[in-house]
Amino acid sequence: MSMVQKVLMAEQGPEFSQLVQGYWRLGAWNMDAQARLTFLKQHVEMGITTVDNAAVYGDSEVLFGEALKLDPAMREKIQIVSKFGINSIAPATGEIRVSHYDSSKALILSSTENSLKRLGVEQLDALLVHRPDFLMDADQVAEAFYELKQSGKVKHFGVSNFNASQFDLLQSRLDTPLITNQVEINPLNFAVLEDGTTDQLQQYRIRPMAWSCLAGGSIFSEQSDQARRLRGALIELAEELGADSIEQVIFAWVLKHPSNPAALIGSGKIERVKDAVGALALDMSREQWYRIWVASKGHGVA
Ligand SMILES: NC(=O)c1ccc[n+]([C@@H]2O[C@H](COP(=O)([O-])OP(=O)(O)OC[C@H]3O[C@@H](n4cnc5c(N)ncnc54)[C@H](OP(=O)(O)O)[C@@H]3O)[C@@H](O)[C@H]2O)c1
Repeated sequence: MSMVQKVLMAEQGPEFSQLVQGYWRLGAWNMDAQARLTFLKQHVEMGITTVDNAAVYGDSEVLFGEALKLDPAMREKIQIVSKFGINSIAPATGEIRVSHYDSSKALILSSTENSLKRLGVEQLDALLVHRPDFLMDADQVAEAFYELKQSGKVKHFGVSNFNASQFDLLQSRLDTPLITNQVEINPLNFAVLEDGTTDQLQQYRIRPMAWSCLAGGSIFSEQSDQARRLRGALIELAEELGADSIEQVIFAWVLKHPSNPAALIGSGKIERVKDAVGALALDMSREQWYRIWVASKGHGVA
C-alpha cells in the first residue's frame, strides 16, 4: 500500500495529508486511551498525519488529548485542525437556551484556549470558523486571528461551510490567507460543486477539506431512490475499477474534483481507514465520474 502524500493546502498555507482523519465521532468509538493512541499511530504510519477536531465535538478533544499525552512525541508528527463557533444549547444550566453561532472575538479567544487545554497542546496547525455566523463581524474575527497568530497559538486559519461571499468577506479583513473551506462533498450531497463554493476555491488555488465523504454512512443504508440508484452505480464501478469496496469508489469520486480536496475519513475502524487509502490508486475516468453524478441526480446531463 502506498503512503498518503502531503499536499499544500494553499499558497503560503500548510501541508496536510491528502486524507485527513476526522475525530468527530471519537466518543462513540469506545476506545480506551491506549487504543486511541494505537489508532492514531496506525493512521499516521499510513501517511494520514492531519487530524480534524472541533470545540463542539463533545469530549472528542479531551479523548484525543488523553491519547496524545501517552506519547507526546506524536505531536510533532501530526497537524491538528480544530474549529470554533457553535454554542450548543445547555438545558442543565439554562445559560444557553438555543444553540447558536458565535464568532465574537471573546468567544474565538476563549474557545481556542479551551481547545488547546483539552488537546494538551501549545499550538493548533489550523483553526477554522465552524459555521458561518449571521452576526459575524469580520473585523472582530480578524482581531482575534491576529492575536492568536502573534501569540503562536494558531499557525493558520480557515473556514467551514462558508459560501463564496462569506469567504471573500472574511478574507478581505485578514492579513493572513485563509487556507481551506471545509465543506460537505459526497455523491448524495454535492451542492458546493454547484453553488460556486468549490469554483472559488479552485480560482484561489485553495483546497477544500471534504467532510462526510460517505454521507455519514447513509450511502450504505438510506432507502431513498437516489441512494439505491447510487449504490447500483457504485457496485458496478467498483467492479470496473478493480476497487476493493464501494467506499474506495466514493473517495476516488471526491478526490477527482479539480478543486483538489483533502478528504476527511470518519470511520473509527482502522481497516476502513486502510481501505480508504486504496482510493488514491484508482484511476477514475471522466465518464465514470459522471455516471455517479447521473445516478445521484436521477437524470442525465442536458
Ligand atoms: N465542518 C463540518 O461542519 C463537519 C461536519 C461533519 C463532519 N466533519 C468532519 O468530517 C469527518 C468525517 O465525517 P463523517 O464522520 O460524517 O464521515 P463519513 O465517512 O461520511 O461517515 C463516517 C460514518 O460512516 C460509517 N461507515 C463507514 N463505512 C461504512 C460502511 N461500509 N457501512 C456502514 N457505515 C459505514 C462509520 O462507521 P464506523 O466508525 O463504524 O466505520 C462512521 O459512523 C468528521 O470526523 C469531522 O472531523 C466536519
